[in-house]
Amino acid sequence: MNQYPIIFCLLTLLYVIFLPHLKAVELCPSFYCNDQKHDHDPIHFPFRVPENQTTRCGYPGFDLSCNSNNQTLLSSLSSEPLIVEGISYSDQLIWLSDPNHCTPKRVMDLSLTSTPFSFGRFGSAYTIVNCSQPAGSNPELPRGSSVITCMSEGNYTVIATFKKMAERELVRERGCEVMNKINAAFWWRDMEEYDYFYPTDLSDVLVQLNWGVPSCGRCDLRGGSCGFVGGMGLEVGCVIPESSGKCLLLLKKFTLLNFVYSLRFFELVTFGIWGTRRETLT
Ligand SMILES: *[C@@H]1O[C@H](CO)[C@@H](O)[C@H](O)[C@H]1NC(C)=O
Ligand SMILES: *[C@@H]1O[C@H](CO)[C@@H](O)[C@H](O)[C@H]1NC(C)=O
Ligand SMILES: *[C@@H]1O[C@H](CO)[C@@H](O)[C@H](O)[C@H]1NC(C)=O
Ligand SMILES: *[C@@H]1O[C@H](CO)[C@@H](O)[C@H](O)[C@H]1NC(C)=O
Repeated sequence: MNQYPIIFCLLTLLYVIFLPHLKAVELCPSFYCNDQKHDHDPIHFPFRVPENQTTRCGYPGFDLSCNSNNQTLLSSLSSEPLIVEGISYSDQLIWLSDPNHCTPKRVMDLSLTSTPFSFGRFGSAYTIVNCSQPAGSNPELPRGSSVITCMSEGNYTVIATFKKMAERELVRERGCEVMNKINAAFWWRDMEEYDYFYPTDLSDVLVQLNWGVPSCGRCDLRGGSCGFVGGMGLEVGCVIPESSGKCLLLLKKFTLLNFVYSLRFFELVTFGIWGTRRETLT
């Protein structure tokens, strides 16, 4: 009995199944706000600079801009832009600073709902208190608390703490007034290495945010690049450099619908040579 028609049908079925995954991933070159320092802060998917890059270069909600000092800015989280101090694409983290050097004040009116971001892995609950002594006259601060000099004035001091015990001491023993309770991921150098190191002044620390979607961290870790799949929609794909050339070449041949090539193609897919190098992410 001739089994050729069965094989043909099977291949056609496979072709239909695999076809949606074969749309090309659009990759955009990295962009730099500081054109002279290409080792620093590349901007690429999911981030983009709308002024200089097309819509398909970045995911919605990840728009950045550049200022006249060649700094990278994120403007969508509050009325005033924040400076982008660093991005870890593989960890899906971004570090921001306040151009007015009063990070805690900015964090208080930061609105992360309906943005792709939430506070990073060092997120913690902070209590902000207002103490009636002038900043200079403060006796030693309780463990786990920091002055916010930029919010303090001549005759009162604003202090932030993430420790319940410190909060009790400040409120009960020193008569400080609770101003605000916030959840935030303040970040400062050395915090990841020294658990008990915190700055005496919180004014100039950074804020760390992370994002979940699109999840290109793993792609980036493997040296790949993420981009949108096809010309529209939010499907995101990962291209690993060394295989992408071959895949695209294969695709071109495949579009000729040459049956011999498709046979060869499915052989390759079946044996998993290229089949696993392209992934669809959400
Ligand atoms: C980005 O776009 C702005 C405005 O169109 C332009 O002035 C600037 O030179 C562009 N920067 C680069 C590096 O292309
Ligand atoms: C910003 O970049 C431009 C072009 O690379 C350079 O001419 C200029 O001096 C830079 N400005 C600052 C403040 O670094
Ligand atoms: C702190 O308290 C003082 C006096 O109780 C008040 O005048 C000041 O406005 C308060 N500061 C803030 C930032 O709320
Ligand atoms: C706090 O300082 C302001 C001026 O900086 C002054 O007008 C005010 O009287 C002071 N308040 C107290 C309670 O000392």
